[in-house]
Amino acid sequence: MQQVQQDMIVVLDLGSEGNTTVARDIRDLGVYSEIHSHDISAEQLGALPNVKGIILNGGQNRIVDGAAIDASDAVYASGLPLLAVDHKARRIAGLEALAAWPADASERTEALRAFVGDTCGARPNWSMENFIADQVELLRRQIGDKKVLLALSGGVDSSVVAALLIRAVGDQLTCVHVNHGLLRKGEPEEVVRVFGEGLGARLVYVDAIDRFLGKLEGVADPEEKRKVIGAEFIRVFEEEARKLEGIDFLGQGTIYPDIIESGTKTAQAVKAHHNVGGLPDDLHFELVEPLKMLFKDEVRACGRALGLPEGMVERQPFPGPGLGVRCLGPITRERLECVRESDAILREEFERAGLAGKVWQYFTAVPDFKSVGVRDNARCLEYPVIIRAVNTVDAMTATIERLDYTLLERIVHRITNEVPNVNRVVYDLTPKPTGTIEWE
Ligand code: XMP
Repeated sequence: MQQVQQDMIVVLDLGSEGNTTVARDIRDLGVYSEIHSHDISAEQLGALPNVKGIILNGGQNRIVDGAAIDASDAVYASGLPLLAVDHKARRIAGLEALAAWPADASERTEALRAFVGDTCGARPNWSMENFIADQVELLRRQIGDKKVLLALSGGVDSSVVAALLIRAVGDQLTCVHVNHGLLRKGEPEEVVRVFGEGLGARLVYVDAIDRFLGKLEGVADPEEKRKVIGAEFIRVFEEEARKLEGIDFLGQGTIYPDIIESGTKTAQAVKAHHNVGGLPDDLHFELVEPLKMLFKDEVRACGRALGLPEGMVERQPFPGPGLGVRCLGPITRERLECVRESDAILREEFERAGLAGKVWQYFTAVPDFKSVGVRDNARCLEYPVIIRAVNTVDAMTATIERLDYTLLERIVHRITNEVPNVNRVVYDLTPKPTGTIEWE
């Protein structure tokens, strides 16, 4: 068995909203840090490798079910150095207490450095290389000689999980890529190229295009579309899982923000929308979630360190229902191709203009009506394409990107000339609110 390299400081979730900041600040000091639930058991604590100290953050006035939130007895009994901040600190040996974090950033960093470095003696050995080495070792311990299944969408998170699992357990991993026909141009091919051919993954490619489009026929309501796509995805994945024998583990691209948003029950509260959460009960899988302690930018850095192509790790956010919510109203193959082809042109031009990776999200949408235009000196009835390009921090509000007119005109020229059945392009100038980022 290999040694786990990185020292760790545990931040206990006592309901403070500042936990994420504390964990990130510790990582900025070069020391690995994780947030765990306040009621962590001795067994769970003992299973965490190289814990050098614990920070009890917040919780001063939090009462849940009539009791003040406090760390578990296992934490106090652990003998590890404890730092309590804004917390009803118990007067026990080994516990330092701060009434609050210093407001001044450098004083705060100093307080953290003193605890993490001097009191706990944690070595600043958090790096992506060490993280990967540790995860590979921990995944091998967890999985042993058993088999793992992973739904590989080609998005950043599932791609990085796949790359890590391939490094850790090689062909004990089976990746299933479901092509539901709502992916962007070139995406299914890239998944096959990068994972099947490049990394030599055992990859099951499922062409479910007809099946999804059949189910979606005539479905106009956006939420209904999402439901149909989500439910069908689980059905297809389940069918593939049943074909494979002896799978014990299911890989998941859960990342840190997914588990820390929901307050004190930290680890249990994985967001419901996660990919394959709805599998039937008789498919028993243990979850493998190697990215659950990484922030999004760290996930990208991890993918880069694992050698994934830049276009894959820097991918902009893409909704689960894919182009399905950008082919507005009832989906038809003809309009779906208008969306896919115009989106490909938009992405190409953004890359050429150096905007890829700078603009948060950009895409095209196609409504389900036609407008009058002129082509080859004759009247033509064709679809319009809507361009959307927005910037945001958290997707709750968004501002539009002020695109250069020369660039816009080139995109309009290309889309109306290269995409069949499109005679008009419009640019959506609406911020969120009142518009949402997507049109559906
Ligand atoms: P809206 O349109 O609500 O989008 O302003 C905010 C962000 O969420 C993405 N989005 C989705 N992501 N499944 C997803 O995984 C969905 O059904 C979905 N709908 C919207 C959207 O692309 C934007 O980044």
